[in-house]
Amino acid sequence: MKQDEQAVDVVVMAAGKGTRMKSRLPKVLHRLAGRALLQHVVDTAVGLNARRVVVITGHGAAEVEAGVVHPQGGLLQFVRQEPQLGTGHAVQQAVPALPDDGIVVVLSGDVPLTEADTLRELIAACGGDSLALLTIAFDDPTGYGRIVRDASGVVRAIVEHKDASEAQRQIQEVYSGIMAVPAKLLKPWLGQLDNRNAQGEYYLTDVVKLAAAQGVPVVGHKIGDALQVAGVNSPVQLAELERAHQLRVARRLMEQGVRLADPARFDVRGQLRCGQDVEIDVGCIFSGEVEVGEGARIGAHCIVSNASIGPGAVIHPYTHIEGGASARDRVEVGAGALVGPYARLRPGAKLGEEVHIGNFVEIKAATLARGAKANHLAYIGDSKVGERVNYGAGSITANYDGANKHTTVIEADVHIGSNCVLIAPVTIGAGGTVGGGSTITKDTAPGVLTVARAKQVSLSGWQRPQKKK
Ligand code: UD1
Ligand code: CA
Repeated sequence: MKQDEQAVDVVVMAAGKGTRMKSRLPKVLHRLAGRALLQHVVDTAVGLNARRVVVITGHGAAEVEAGVVHPQGGLLQFVRQEPQLGTGHAVQQAVPALPDDGIVVVLSGDVPLTEADTLRELIAACGGDSLALLTIAFDDPTGYGRIVRDASGVVRAIVEHKDASEAQRQIQEVYSGIMAVPAKLLKPWLGQLDNRNAQGEYYLTDVVKLAAAQGVPVVGHKIGDALQVAGVNSPVQLAELERAHQLRVARRLMEQGVRLADPARFDVRGQLRCGQDVEIDVGCIFSGEVEVGEGARIGAHCIVSNASIGPGAVIHPYTHIEGGASARDRVEVGAGALVGPYARLRPGAKLGEEVHIGNFVEIKAATLARGAKANHLAYIGDSKVGERVNYGAGSITANYDGANKHTTVIEADVHIGSNCVLIAPVTIGAGGTVGGGSTITKDTAPGVLTVARAKQVSLSGWQRPQKKK
């Protein structure tokens, strides 16, 4: 049977302890680029169009099982391995969950950056009748299982570092931990594994000897990209892998024309899509789904989640844009808008074209139409703000009565003075002006000046108190 006709079932080994992380959190739940290590692996399996994804859990099983976002279609299942007697024993636990007619791809939950294309090549190398091993040559192969080939280059065995002879330890080609093999071959081999080796474990890698003995072709599919097979065992390795991954993301964006001030000070923890001539200064973090339109500029140290930044918009330094994942909660910044420095756009902030939001201004669940401005120290929440409104420094919408949220409507061309409190629900009529320091509790008519503050008094003949002698 040809590989393209054969279903792929993925087994992810994730039962190990991860002692060197020195963490209460199970290793595979530590995050890289904002996603759990295991989530990366599961998502890659989904990207392969796997028929099933079987995750082997053990240490911290309940937490690991709860820590993964399930893909659509219910293809994810968990199988527990108790106790953990080695990688061969781990895959044995998955046998009842694996149909006989598929190609099994074995992955590790702590190897997050394998690309689906690489796995497709490996599956093609398996071809439905061979055992295909993903291999790589390391300058320092210490600790890894060595790929032992005979004089004609045919793979005969994998020998674990601890079981290897001095001569075998010189071999630089190692097993990555990733293989593709037809289930109908794998299953009987798993039943024949033993634990007579240096670690007293059931080694999955011993299936190579069984294949060779049975005359099943073993293909070593060698790649050059170490990042794709790199595992995480310690916080240092996790941070190194994070940087290497981020650098790759940064390079890809720069190849598309994005200008990053420094690719080493740039983080994407989700998806970032950019138009032409986008500039991003140092220290920015993007998460969720972010789109940046043509010619937009993002200043230094901005944090941007789930947002669409319009063409030509400028986000000044230290701005925090925290949109939510839903369409309602997403933040939108219109074309040519200016935001920041030190602005905060919370879920559901929708800014039209040419809107200006200045320092220490907070916007939440509010729509600001074209050309509206709030340049200093203000709060606008649960509001609808019309075109060209000018919203003064220190003014706020009092949108919350302690139990419910209410809406403020500020119609087009209104001027709100400084230090006003607009107590919702309230509507300020188009073209009206609200005098500084007003507390507005009732709707105002269009075009009028409204002042709601104590009258100013001046007392003549008043004497300042004197200090007692
Ligand atoms: C394994 C390979 C080695 C390879 C290396 C690549 C074996 C015997 N050796 O060695 O040839 O070069 O990976 O990194 O397979 N796990 C379980 N249950 C267990 C044991 C392990 O789920 O009982 C999981 C671990 O959580 C981990 C993965 O399997 O995700 C690999 O186990 P690990 O102990 O790291 O294997 P290595 O000794 O590194
Ligand atoms: Ca390992």
